[in-house]
Amino acid sequence: MVQLLSLLAGLALICATSAVPLSETNSLAAREIEIEEFEARGPSCESRGGHHKGKPAPAAAAITNAKAVYFITNAANNSVVALKVNADGSLSDGSVTATGGAGMSGVLIAGGAVAAPDALFSQGAVKVAGNMLVAVNPGSNTISMFTIDAADATKLTMVGQPADTLGEFPMSVSLSAKLNQACVANSGAKAGIACFSMSATEGLKALDTAVRPFNINQTTPPAGPENTVSQTFFNEDSTALLTTVKGNPAVNNTGFLSIFPVVNNTVSTNEARSSPNGTAVLFGTALIPNSKNVFVTDASFGSATLAISSKNIATVKASTKILDQKATCWAAISDLTKTAFVTDVANNHLVEIDVNNGNLIKELNSTNGNPGMIDLVSAGKFIYALSPGNATVASAVTVFDVSGGRGTAKEVQNFKPAGVTSKNSCYRIVFEARKDPLYLILSLAEQPAAAQCPPTTDGKPTWHPSYDSLLRKLWV
Ligand SMILES: *[C@@H]1O[C@H](CO)[C@@H](O)[C@H](O)[C@H]1NC(C)=O
Ligand SMILES: *[C@@H]1O[C@H](CO)[C@@H](O)[C@H](O)[C@H]1NC(C)=O
Ligand SMILES: *[C@@H]1O[C@H](CO)[C@@H](O)[C@H](O)[C@H]1NC(C)=O
Ligand SMILES: *[C@@H]1O[C@H](CO)[C@@H](O)[C@H](O)[C@H]1NC(C)=O
Ligand SMILES: *[C@@H]1O[C@H](CO)[C@@H](O)[C@H](O)[C@H]1NC(C)=O
Ligand SMILES: *[C@@H]1O[C@H](CO)[C@@H](O)[C@H](O)[C@H]1NC(C)=O
Ligand SMILES: *[C@@H]1O[C@H](CO)[C@@H](O)[C@H](O)[C@H]1NC(C)=O
Repeated sequence: MVQLLSLLAGLALICATSAVPLSETNSLAAREIEIEEFEARGPSCESRGGHHKGKPAPAAAAITNAKAVYFITNAANNSVVALKVNADGSLSDGSVTATGGAGMSGVLIAGGAVAAPDALFSQGAVKVAGNMLVAVNPGSNTISMFTIDAADATKLTMVGQPADTLGEFPMSVSLSAKLNQACVANSGAKAGIACFSMSATEGLKALDTAVRPFNINQTTPPAGPENTVSQTFFNEDSTALLTTVKGNPAVNNTGFLSIFPVVNNTVSTNEARSSPNGTAVLFGTALIPNSKNVFVTDASFGSATLAISSKNIATVKASTKILDQKATCWAAISDLTKTAFVTDVANNHLVEIDVNNGNLIKELNSTNGNPGMIDLVSAGKFIYALSPGNATVASAVTVFDVSGGRGTAKEVQNFKPAGVTSKNSCYRIVFEARKDPLYLILSLAEQPAAAQCPPTTDGKPTWHPSYDSLLRKLWV
């Protein structure tokens, strides 16, 4: 409980410290240019030194590094941003492609302000399977599908129209290449899972007429971070769809892991739910390769490895209390090290964990001056983790090299994409991440800080007037 309260304090701290004047550059177009200019402006990456420029790509081409990084803007005109990942793991210029849907941000239980830094309280807002990419549109209750150009992974082409998620506030999507299906979790007043068939030529087609419901008594937008849906994900062989749902210990709401088995190539409606003993606020997850076990973070203490029984009931197999944690919410597993990495929004460390026994392998305290990191993803030799920044420290993506194997993670870059950073630190980045053999997938949602969206007299937050031309009013 003490630790859970510190999670809220951590988030509140970020909100309270993000108050800076709005600048006129808060547009996607400006952001795109700023992202493209990054290469020329290199020096913001202090630890990069000579590593990036002019150095040939590492020889170990056999290890599959990411080709592109994708994220959503979560703006009113929601868009997918694609950044190129260079052979040396660094990020470069990208593209911005409208989804045809709208973004939306959750609100904080404590105070009702716009949720930041985690606008969606989730992991998995954009996913890739083969040459198909699907992104959520939390403000229009739809998901959009794109194909990825074979020669240029930053080139996306929308297929069909955005599809109705049958619920409200879609915030996490999972794709099965085996089933050619996409399932999306909604976390708003109509919370639950809906599934679609997915084809590169036909786009998305509804397989359901109603969501598989989660009766979490939420609103739209949801009030969180507790008591919201966290992440939906197919298991490794697509025999089940799993979803983490956060509890709220303060009001005796129990969180759970939901499992819908896949029967006859269809995600069934026969749900098994379990609340593994000792877990309370299940958040981000990572599939443990070649295992039925699942690695999860729990924002109330750290992380755990869950074993799943044949009846789809989860029990804690190993757990890790991260003693100096404030809010451990996002997880990734490296294929190279076979270990898990977790981050903390209010503690600037990367923690490596043995998924078999929960042993804490390494705590890497970063000295780069960032306040903390949130979403992270692993691809090949690298781990990418997002620092949301604050009013004085720019948002950044910190790159860790894990090529030396277990226990060797070292920071190699602190990439500061302009346009989501210091002068616009009212924007927060939600860096939702899953790895794919070919693509590194991140979702990034920009939100104005809570301090800029003071509660109105009716208690609901409102946008700063400067956003009116850019972002639709989300709370009216
Ligand atoms: C929406 O964003 C896309 C890029 O993501 C841009 O091309 C388009 O002009 C924008 N549309 C509006 C109405 O702002
Ligand atoms: C549902 O939430 C509302 C507040 O949004 C609360 O007043 C009500 O008691 C809740 N109902 C249950 C069954 O928890
Ligand atoms: C939660 O449940 C426990 C056990 O039933 C009870 O002792 C406690 O008072 C409850 N807390 C709240 C906030 O309702
Ligand atoms: C699966 O499909 C087969 C053939 O279509 C059918 O015989 C069987 O009853 C189905 N099983 C379930 C559990 O629906
Ligand atoms: C849950 O764990 C606690 C200690 O962590 C233990 O005392 C309790 O018996 C466990 N409950 C069950 C149902 O396993
Ligand atoms: C990291 O910093 C924490 C304080 O936040 C300290 O307790 C811990 O020992 C440090 N770990 C290492 C490996 O330096
Ligand atoms: C931003 O974060 C840095 C690093 O934690 C901290 O030193 C600084 O005081 C923070 N700035 C604000 C305005 O909170």
